[in-house]
Amino acid sequence: MKAKRIYASIEALLLVLIMLSWVSCTKEEDPTPTPVTPAYQTTPYEFNIPDYFPLFQVPKNNPTTVEGVALGKRLYYDPMLSQGGPLEGNSCSSCHTQKGSFSKSTPYGTGFQVMAHINLNYTKNFLWDGLVQGELEDIAEFEVAEFFKADVSLFRADSTYKSMFYKAFGKTDFDEKDMAYAIAQHFRSLNSYNSKFDLFWDGKAELTPLEEMGYLIFNTERGDCFHCHSFPLLSDHDFHNNGLDSTFEGINAGRFNVTGNVNDYGLFKSPTLRNVALTAPYMHDGRFETLEEVVEHYNSGVRHSPTLDAIMLKPGKEYGLQLSPMEKAAIVAFLKTLTDTSYTTNPEFSSPF
Ligand code: HEC
Ligand code: HEC
Repeated sequence: MKAKRIYASIEALLLVLIMLSWVSCTKEEDPTPTPVTPAYQTTPYEFNIPDYFPLFQVPKNNPTTVEGVALGKRLYYDPMLSQGGPLEGNSCSSCHTQKGSFSKSTPYGTGFQVMAHINLNYTKNFLWDGLVQGELEDIAEFEVAEFFKADVSLFRADSTYKSMFYKAFGKTDFDEKDMAYAIAQHFRSLNSYNSKFDLFWDGKAELTPLEEMGYLIFNTERGDCFHCHSFPLLSDHDFHNNGLDSTFEGINAGRFNVTGNVNDYGLFKSPTLRNVALTAPYMHDGRFETLEEVVEHYNSGVRHSPTLDAIMLKPGKEYGLQLSPMEKAAIVAFLKTLTDTSYTTNPEFSSPF
């Protein structure tokens, strides 16, 4: 009994000692030092992707943050990115204009049509012929370093960028890779899912009978479009020969120009058909001016060659789809339901300058 009491009082004494030393410790730390640079703390960017979309994956080494997206967007719209390089005077937005879903009606000097930017986080194949493969970070680095040959020193000398890079990545000695990472974050924020068709899918809008007819043709063996342009992304992001040519020269050789494999003659990445009504002209070289011409291509213009996709050669389709005028009009009406003007007018995606 006695021994126990002694132990109890020793314990109490120890507790008092510990508390005293803690109080003196906290006293010693006073006054709190003011940090020299502001604390580096990022804000996670919140995505609002609908649940019928595939899993939205973000690489662990480049989490999407509000600060990173803001920086990436500024770089995207800044002609300083091309200063001293082969594209002097241009920003990314010179060719990728928001009202055209980040595409443009005039092709680039190589003859390639400008590709739209929509939901690009879901693809691993970039550019019409898949010259760049990997993550958004990889295509962004290609654009910054190889296409624009951006001069990092201009940005390091700029006080706005110094502060923005610090806020986004916690450093001021950034390089091309950091610039590309910021642009990749901006791309990750460019998601479109508010078209009329999305609202219909979500039970919030109705299609007209013609649009619905077009959807049925598109999404069944009748039109067979869905194999390569499947909902919800409206692209399988894979390479196909959809019968534009029977001989292949220059850029029309497509994926062959990247792989050197004869099985890749005339293969191109299936573009998304989201906002397709806003991205004329069509195909990798912009050969068709209207959606009607595109549908007529699939209906009666498919050219045969050894690499033509097997879907175009299904029994009964050797001579095209043979659609009635009404069925063709229905497909075009359906394609127009894929337009999302909330995307092309969203101030969050517009120039910060
Ligand atoms: C001079 C016009 C022009 C400028 C400026 C331009 N682009 Fe492009 N962009 C194109 C063209 C044309 C293509 C398709 C080229 C091809 O497939 O070879 C393309 C394709 C892309 C793609 C591929 C999209 C996909 O679906 O595969 C991305 C991403 C892209 N550009 C990002 C950028 C970024 C970032 C910048 C600024 C650093 C930029 N572009 C500046 C013309 C331009
Ligand atoms: C075998 C795969 C495949 C099938 C089936 C297919 N497409 Fe395509 N589609 C492509 C490819 C690949 C391209 C790009 C080809 C190019 O530019 O050289 C494309 C391009 C397009 C474009 C132009 C988009 C743009 O931004 O330039 C439209 C519109 C289109 N397809 C609609 C349809 C419709 C409608 C159907 C059904 C009648 C259909 N596609 C069937 C693979 C396919």
